Amino acid sequence: MDITKLQAKKLLLDDQVIAVPTETVYGLAASIYSEKGIRKIFNLKKRSLSNPLIIHISQYNQFKNLTSISNKEIEKIIEAFWPGPLTIIAPAKVDQVSATIRANFATVAIRMPKHPDLQKLIDEVGPIVAPSANLSGKPSSTKKNHVLHDFGLDFPILEGEEPDCGIESTIIGYVDGKWQLFRLGYISQEEIENVLGCPLIYSSLTITPGRMFKHYSPNAELSTSLSPDRNVEAIIGFDDRTYPKSQYFFSMGSSTNSKLIAKSLYSILRKLDELNISRAWIDTNFTSKQLFTSIKERIKRASAREPYDCTRH
Ligand code: TXA
Ligand code: MG
Repeated sequence: MDITKLQAKKLLLDDQVIAVPTETVYGLAASIYSEKGIRKIFNLKKRSLSNPLIIHISQYNQFKNLTSISNKEIEKIIEAFWPGPLTIIAPAKVDQVSATIRANFATVAIRMPKHPDLQKLIDEVGPIVAPSANLSGKPSSTKKNHVLHDFGLDFPILEGEEPDCGIESTIIGYVDGKWQLFRLGYISQEEIENVLGCPLIYSSLTITPGRMFKHYSPNAELSTSLSPDRNVEAIIGFDDRTYPKSQYFFSMGSSTNSKLIAKSLYSILRKLDELNISRAWIDTNFTSKQLFTSIKERIKRASAREPYDCTRH
């Protein structure tokens, strides 16, 4: 159910949870000052309390109020990528950020989203927490009907344009004196390294559950073998290629257009479940540059049968 900014504000200030569009995927939002609202998010998502949330802000001074970071590259990074799909993990001001948001860690993850309607809402209610609006372990929501599917047809959603990117923000952090990459995402590692002027170290921290487990997964068994085997019901591929016949074909667009692939991936994974498809094959024969790297990583996790530790990739 679409709600206006005014209704959204009222609900947030009344300890409620709403869905909000961001430029990456939909989020489930509560005010950072509402412990009740924050706990409702964990319940709704069936998310473990040991998995920390990202705080979304609309102004740089909110970042300064919530973190204590002194690093010479931070200004450059923020200048280059905010507002936009980059999340920064930094030491938290622990008296300003509740332990529930941080899952008791000493750090906090923050991002400044680019979506204009969400920015306006945050300007009025202050910072919000917003994990992706999906049940834990399932693909994120990139369309309104994905949110309604997971949380009920009456679930309130802030009105505004649907997400444009289709996959989540990239997460980096300045931890233990070095810049580390915590999660691949819409902004490529190369773009960030160009601004930093040095390589990002892949974080060896194993606390980020989104990195550690089978994640973003449909119920279907998703194969990424070189070619589809005969008994797959669905093929997920590209318009510019030909494939053997199958009951269903889903197109991710052109094999060279990473933006379109990112935008269609989760919708297609969700479609498999809607249609009760039990075996699907997805074409992963594309380059591993920039955004393509993040897309491949999401597919790898969506297709993992066992918990998958992407620190090994
Ligand atoms: O694009 C996005 O980032 C979306 C939209 C809604 O903004 N949000 C999103 O949130 O993807 P979520 O909660 O689904 O994923 C955030 C990830 C989780 O894997 C969490 O473990 C990690 O960020 N995270 C949050 N705080 C952290 C911290 N202090 N240290 C390490 N990882 C952290
Ligand atoms: Mg998520």
